[in-house]
Amino acid sequence: MTGSSLTFRPLEAAPFGVLAEIEAGDVDAAVALFLQAADEISGALHAAGGLMVVRGLSALRDAPRALVTISQVFGPDVENYRETLTAERFFHEEVAEVLVLSNMPPCNHPPPPRPEPLLDEEGRFPVQFPQRANWHTDQSYRRPPPDVTLLFGVTVPPADQGQTLFADCTAALEALAPEVRAEIEGLSGLHAPSWIGRRPQDVRGGIAPKPLLAHQLPQRQPLVRVHPVTGKPALYICEEAQMDHLEGPIEGLEPGPDGAGARLVRRLLAHATRREFVYVHGWRQGDLVIGDNRCLLHAASWFDADKHPRLMWRTTVSGHPGAEYAGEAKSWVPEEGYAPMQGMEDA
Ligand SMILES: [Fe+2]
Repeated sequence: MTGSSLTFRPLEAAPFGVLAEIEAGDVDAAVALFLQAADEISGALHAAGGLMVVRGLSALRDAPRALVTISQVFGPDVENYRETLTAERFFHEEVAEVLVLSNMPPCNHPPPPRPEPLLDEEGRFPVQFPQRANWHTDQSYRRPPPDVTLLFGVTVPPADQGQTLFADCTAALEALAPEVRAEIEGLSGLHAPSWIGRRPQDVRGGIAPKPLLAHQLPQRQPLVRVHPVTGKPALYICEEAQMDHLEGPIEGLEPGPDGAGARLVRRLLAHATRREFVYVHGWRQGDLVIGDNRCLLHAASWFDADKHPRLMWRTTVSGHPGAEYAGEAKSWVPEEGYAPMQGMEDA
């Protein structure tokens, strides 16, 4: 393509991931480049362990529809948030496939709390659970779960605030002691959204769990998930707010926030988020970061929301969950006559 170029190089200061640099005359040329090089781009993503940072797409900020087209390079189904009944303030007014994450109105989504202290004893940015909170993989409370999340930085705070962290759960699994690996093979986690009253604090507080319709139930996911493209196994877990601490978080192990299942999840999270497995992305305006939910954990971090406006666009791509989910209906689609969030109106 005349005047357009795409180059790949390893991501700096990262144990995994690839940097893709795009030069294209305008948004249409950039989108054409993505479509033309689709196999090469998704191949580079998988070869790099499921993380890609794309630079050179600043013009996307005026073209949300182009982000949806680019997202289709990574899988067949791009979630339409209107169909999954997300509140309107959380998706783009013209393009319902674009989820809006912002501290600005109408979204008004606050950043995670400021960690105290902000840096660890050695003056480094803390990455490891539990010092670093909210490690998760997107929508693991659905079966089949999604493939890939794309995050685009429209307006970003300084690069040393509001970073997004990614942990390589393929490498983390490989590094587990053989006896721990043997202990977790064949186990399943119970994943649940944070708003159904099954977080540790809900259970400890003795809050009556919400009655759930069939499409709202926690979902089992294997603790070791095989990636459908690379064939590599990876740890598949989430932090406490996204696992069921009433009946889980691990099927067949002692339930509850202090049970054997919760202790195992905490141990695995602390292992998977060791610094050697983690990449911290400090945002520049116009960055597009693509993360594979099938083999990565990610976490948001604090920024000073009083000083800095932040606007991110997100798309979620699904369609290749792996053999484990072959032929399954979507767990989150309600039976006729029911609404997705029925009974959750206060969530
Ligand atoms: Fe997320």
